[in-house]
Amino acid sequence: MLTWMLVTVALAADPAAGKVLYAASCTACHGAAGNGKGPAAVALKPKPTDLTAAAWWVGKTDEQVTVAIRAGRPGTSMAPFTEFSDAEVGDLVAYLRTFAAP
Ligand code: HEC
Repeated sequence: MLTWMLVTVALAADPAAGKVLYAASCTACHGAAGNGKGPAAVALKPKPTDLTAAAWWVGKTDEQVTVAIRAGRPGTSMAPFTEFSDAEVGDLVAYLRTFAAP
């Protein structure tokens, strides 16, 4: 039973865990609300992506968002985030999706 629970926890993306990671690593630029208006955003060109914009999410797969986080965006302040495990990136993606939830 315990084993089953641990496996379930490991496989299911957890937006609440993603929120903690986001607060630590992403808020400065993307903002607590995900709208791209974090405190550091003023100085940035291009501006951080507005993750609350439904249009940005149209057709976006988890895989594409995972790559955006892992590889970053060359030539912008969006650096590659290589420190997260697959589970952590999954949690982050699940949390990012809540920004655009209707
Ligand atoms: C230093 C500022 C900064 C931090 C910190 C940052 N980002 Fe970004 N992010 C940006 C900028 C700027 C862009 C827009 C890049 C562009 O226009 O191509 C961006 C773009 C993105 C995109 C969209 C990429 C695409 O393909 O369109 C995603 C998703 C994203 N960031 C997620 C995150 C997550 C998750 C974190 C935290 C783990 C994070 N960012 C941390 C600045 C930042």
